[in-house]
Amino acid sequence: MTLAERLRLDTRAVHEETEELLYTEPLKAGQLTAGQYSHLLRVHWLFHHALETAIDRHPVFFQAYRPDDRRKTPWLEADLAELNIPLPDPLPELFADWSPVALLGAAYVGEGSMLGGKVVFHHLQKSPELKPLLQNARFYRGYGAEALEKWKAFGAILAGQKESDHDQIVEAAHRTFRAYHDVFRHTKRQNPAVV
Ligand code: HEM
Repeated sequence: MTLAERLRLDTRAVHEETEELLYTEPLKAGQLTAGQYSHLLRVHWLFHHALETAIDRHPVFFQAYRPDDRRKTPWLEADLAELNIPLPDPLPELFADWSPVALLGAAYVGEGSMLGGKVVFHHLQKSPELKPLLQNARFYRGYGAEALEKWKAFGAILAGQKESDHDQIVEAAHRTFRAYHDVFRHTKRQNPAVV
Protein backbone atom coordinates (compact mmCIF):
# COMPACT_ATOMS: atom_id res chain seq x y z
CA MET A 1 0.00 0.00 0.00
CA THR A 2 1.30 3.48 -0.79
CA LEU A 3 1.83 6.01 2.00
CA ALA A 4 -1.05 8.15 0.67
CA GLU A 5 -3.40 5.13 0.75
CA ARG A 6 -2.29 4.24 4.27
CA LEU A 7 -2.83 7.78 5.47
CA ARG A 8 -6.34 7.91 4.02
CA LEU A 9 -7.35 4.50 5.41
CA ASP A 10 -5.71 4.77 8.83
CA THR A 11 -7.09 8.26 9.54
CA ARG A 12 -10.58 7.69 8.16
CA ALA A 13 -12.13 7.14 11.61
CA VAL A 14 -10.42 10.14 13.19
CA HIS A 15 -11.47 12.27 10.20
CA GLU A 16 -15.08 11.24 10.81
CA GLU A 17 -14.69 12.20 14.47
CA THR A 18 -13.37 15.58 13.35
CA GLU A 19 -16.38 16.18 11.14
CA GLU A 20 -18.66 15.27 14.06
CA LEU A 21 -16.87 17.69 16.34
CA LEU A 22 -17.10 20.67 13.98
CA TYR A 23 -20.73 21.70 14.48
CA THR A 24 -21.77 19.12 11.88
CA GLU A 25 -25.49 19.29 12.62
CA PRO A 26 -26.01 23.06 12.42
CA LEU A 27 -23.44 23.25 9.61
CA LYS A 28 -25.24 20.74 7.39
CA ALA A 29 -28.66 22.17 8.31
CA GLY A 30 -27.54 25.64 7.16
CA GLN A 31 -27.83 26.99 10.70
CA LEU A 32 -24.27 27.74 11.68
CA THR A 33 -24.08 30.99 13.67
CA ALA A 34 -21.53 33.77 13.25
CA GLY A 35 -20.03 32.81 16.64
CA GLN A 36 -19.54 29.21 15.53
CA TYR A 37 -18.07 30.31 12.19
CA SER A 38 -15.62 32.60 13.97
CA HIS A 39 -14.67 29.73 16.25
CA LEU A 40 -13.85 27.54 13.24
CA LEU A 41 -11.70 30.33 11.77
CA ARG A 42 -9.82 30.77 15.06
CA VAL A 43 -9.17 27.03 15.40
CA HIS A 44 -7.86 26.87 11.84
CA TRP A 45 -5.67 29.94 12.41
CA LEU A 46 -4.13 28.47 15.58
CA PHE A 47 -3.52 25.16 13.83
CA HIS A 48 -2.09 26.56 10.59
CA HIS A 49 -0.06 29.25 12.33
CA ALA A 50 1.68 26.65 14.49
CA LEU A 51 2.17 24.29 11.52
CA GLU A 52 3.50 26.96 9.14
CA THR A 53 5.91 28.21 11.82
CA ALA A 54 7.21 24.68 12.45
CA ILE A 55 7.58 23.90 8.72
CA ASP A 56 9.48 27.16 8.19
CA ARG A 57 12.19 25.82 10.54
CA HIS A 58 13.08 23.13 7.96
CA PRO A 59 13.38 24.93 4.61
CA VAL A 60 15.55 22.26 2.98
CA PHE A 61 13.34 19.30 3.88
CA PHE A 62 10.21 21.24 2.85
CA GLN A 63 11.60 22.79 -0.34
CA ALA A 64 9.39 20.75 -2.70
CA TYR A 65 6.38 21.47 -0.48
CA ARG A 66 6.77 25.18 -1.39
CA PRO A 67 5.52 26.61 1.94
CA ASP A 68 4.93 30.09 0.51
CA ASP A 69 2.41 28.69 -2.00
CA ARG A 70 0.50 26.85 0.71
CA ARG A 71 0.04 29.46 3.43
CA LYS A 72 -3.45 29.63 4.91
CA THR A 73 -2.80 32.10 7.74
CA PRO A 74 -3.09 35.22 5.50
CA TRP A 75 -6.54 34.01 4.35
CA LEU A 76 -7.64 33.31 7.92
CA GLU A 77 -6.33 36.65 9.14
CA ALA A 78 -8.34 38.43 6.41
CA ASP A 79 -11.48 36.45 7.31
CA LEU A 80 -11.14 37.18 11.04
CA ALA A 81 -10.53 40.88 10.34
CA GLU A 82 -13.73 40.92 8.29
CA LEU A 83 -15.60 39.78 11.43
CA ASN A 84 -13.67 42.19 13.70
CA ILE A 85 -12.34 39.22 15.68
CA PRO A 86 -8.84 39.62 17.14
CA LEU A 87 -6.27 36.90 16.53
CA PRO A 88 -6.04 34.44 19.43
CA ASP A 89 -2.78 34.00 21.33
CA PRO A 90 -0.69 31.61 19.20
CA LEU A 91 0.15 28.09 20.34
CA PRO A 92 3.84 27.86 19.38
CA GLU A 93 4.31 24.65 21.37
CA LEU A 94 1.83 22.67 19.25
CA PHE A 95 4.45 21.29 16.79
CA ALA A 96 7.55 22.77 18.44
CA ASP A 97 9.70 19.64 18.81
CA TRP A 98 8.36 17.62 15.84
CA SER A 99 10.89 16.17 13.41
CA PRO A 100 10.58 17.10 9.71
CA VAL A 101 9.25 13.61 8.92
CA ALA A 102 6.57 13.93 11.63
CA LEU A 103 5.70 17.39 10.33
CA LEU A 104 5.00 15.82 6.95
CA GLY A 105 2.24 13.80 8.64
CA ALA A 106 0.90 17.06 10.09
CA ALA A 107 1.13 18.73 6.67
CA TYR A 108 -0.96 15.86 5.26
CA VAL A 109 -3.74 16.81 7.69
CA GLY A 110 -3.40 20.51 6.86
CA GLU A 111 -3.43 19.96 3.08
CA GLY A 112 -6.21 17.35 3.27
CA SER A 113 -8.39 19.77 5.22
CA MET A 114 -8.42 21.96 2.10
CA LEU A 115 -10.25 19.19 0.22
CA GLY A 116 -13.22 19.29 2.57
CA GLY A 117 -13.25 23.10 2.58
CA LYS A 118 -15.31 23.25 -0.60
CA VAL A 119 -18.04 21.13 0.99
CA VAL A 120 -17.96 23.23 4.16
CA PHE A 121 -18.17 26.49 2.19
CA HIS A 122 -21.29 25.21 0.45
CA HIS A 123 -22.92 24.48 3.85
CA LEU A 124 -21.82 27.83 5.32
CA GLN A 125 -23.54 29.69 2.49
CA LYS A 126 -26.87 28.05 3.36
CA SER A 127 -26.95 29.87 6.71
CA PRO A 128 -28.96 33.11 6.53
CA GLU A 129 -26.95 34.55 9.44
CA LEU A 130 -23.65 33.90 7.67
CA LYS A 131 -24.54 34.72 4.08
CA PRO A 132 -23.81 38.48 4.40
CA LEU A 133 -20.51 37.76 6.18
CA LEU A 134 -19.17 35.49 3.44
CA GLN A 135 -18.91 37.90 0.49
CA ASN A 136 -15.14 38.16 0.79
CA ALA A 137 -14.54 34.88 2.65
CA ARG A 138 -11.17 33.48 1.61
CA PHE A 139 -10.14 30.49 3.69
CA TYR A 140 -13.00 28.18 2.77
CA ARG A 141 -12.49 28.90 -0.95
CA GLY A 142 -9.17 27.09 -0.44
CA TYR A 143 -6.90 26.62 -3.44
CA GLY A 144 -9.80 27.01 -5.86
CA ALA A 145 -8.86 25.92 -9.39
CA GLU A 146 -5.39 24.85 -8.18
CA ALA A 147 -6.73 22.36 -5.63
CA LEU A 148 -6.13 19.19 -7.64
CA GLU A 149 -2.68 20.25 -8.82
CA LYS A 150 -1.64 21.13 -5.26
CA TRP A 151 -2.95 17.84 -3.84
CA LYS A 152 -1.12 15.88 -6.57
CA ALA A 153 2.12 17.74 -5.90
CA PHE A 154 1.75 16.91 -2.21
CA GLY A 155 1.08 13.28 -3.15
CA ALA A 156 4.37 13.23 -5.08
CA ILE A 157 6.19 14.35 -1.91
CA LEU A 158 4.54 11.52 0.06
CA ALA A 159 5.49 9.04 -2.67
CA GLY A 160 9.15 10.07 -2.29
CA GLN A 161 9.37 9.17 1.42
CA LYS A 162 11.41 6.21 2.62
CA GLU A 163 9.35 3.19 3.59
CA SER A 164 11.06 3.08 6.97
CA ASP A 165 9.52 6.51 7.74
CA HIS A 166 5.94 5.59 6.79
CA ASP A 167 4.90 4.42 10.28
CA GLN A 168 6.15 7.66 11.81
CA ILE A 169 4.29 9.79 9.25
CA VAL A 170 1.00 7.93 9.77
CA GLU A 171 1.37 8.12 13.56
CA ALA A 172 2.09 11.86 13.30
CA ALA A 173 -1.04 12.38 11.18
CA HIS A 174 -3.09 10.76 13.95
CA ARG A 175 -1.46 12.93 16.59
CA THR A 176 -2.22 15.95 14.42
CA PHE A 177 -5.94 15.19 14.20
CA ARG A 178 -5.95 14.77 17.99
CA ALA A 179 -4.11 18.09 18.43
CA TYR A 180 -6.70 19.74 16.19
CA HIS A 181 -9.49 18.34 18.40
CA ASP A 182 -7.74 19.67 21.51
CA VAL A 183 -7.45 23.16 20.01
CA PHE A 184 -11.14 23.07 19.08
CA ARG A 185 -12.24 22.09 22.60
CA HIS A 186 -9.84 24.45 24.34
CA THR A 187 -10.98 27.49 22.33
CA LYS A 188 -14.69 26.68 22.53
CA ARG A 189 -14.71 28.06 26.06
CA GLN A 190 -13.27 31.37 24.88
CA ASN A 191 -15.68 32.32 22.09
CA PRO A 192 -15.75 36.11 21.76
CA ALA A 193 -18.92 37.72 20.43
CA VAL A 194 -18.98 38.59 16.74
CA VAL A 195 -19.67 42.28 16.22
C1 HEM B 1 -17.05 19.52 8.67
C2 HEM B 1 -15.81 19.55 8.26
C3 HEM B 1 -15.22 18.69 7.18
C4 HEM B 1 -15.80 18.10 6.11
C5 HEM B 1 -17.26 18.15 5.69
C6 HEM B 1 -14.76 17.39 5.39
C7 HEM B 1 -14.93 16.69 4.24
C8 HEM B 1 -13.91 16.10 3.50
C9 HEM B 1 -14.09 15.53 2.19
C10 HEM B 1 -15.40 15.49 1.41
C11 HEM B 1 -12.88 15.04 1.82
C12 HEM B 1 -12.55 14.29 0.54
C13 HEM B 1 -12.37 15.22 -0.60
C14 HEM B 1 -11.99 14.53 -1.88
O1 HEM B 1 -11.65 13.33 -1.89
O2 HEM B 1 -12.02 15.22 -2.91
C15 HEM B 1 -11.95 15.32 2.88
C16 HEM B 1 -10.62 14.96 2.87
C17 HEM B 1 -9.76 15.20 3.92
N1 HEM B 1 -10.01 15.96 5.04
FE1 HEM B 1 -11.80 16.68 5.58
N2 HEM B 1 -13.57 17.53 6.06
C18 HEM B 1 -13.81 18.34 7.14
C19 HEM B 1 -12.91 18.78 8.06
C20 HEM B 1 -11.58 18.42 8.07
C21 HEM B 1 -10.61 18.91 9.02
C22 HEM B 1 -10.90 19.96 10.09
C23 HEM B 1 -9.45 18.30 8.75
C24 HEM B 1 -8.13 18.43 9.43
C25 HEM B 1 -7.93 18.91 10.63
C26 HEM B 1 -9.67 17.42 7.61
C27 HEM B 1 -8.72 16.63 7.01
C28 HEM B 1 -8.89 15.96 5.83
C29 HEM B 1 -7.86 15.16 5.20
C30 HEM B 1 -6.44 14.89 5.73
C31 HEM B 1 -8.39 14.69 3.99
C32 HEM B 1 -7.67 13.86 2.92
C33 HEM B 1 -8.12 12.41 2.91
C34 HEM B 1 -7.33 11.68 1.82
O3 HEM B 1 -6.21 11.23 2.11
O4 HEM B 1 -7.83 11.58 0.71
N3 HEM B 1 -10.98 17.53 7.22
N4 HEM B 1 -12.61 15.97 3.89
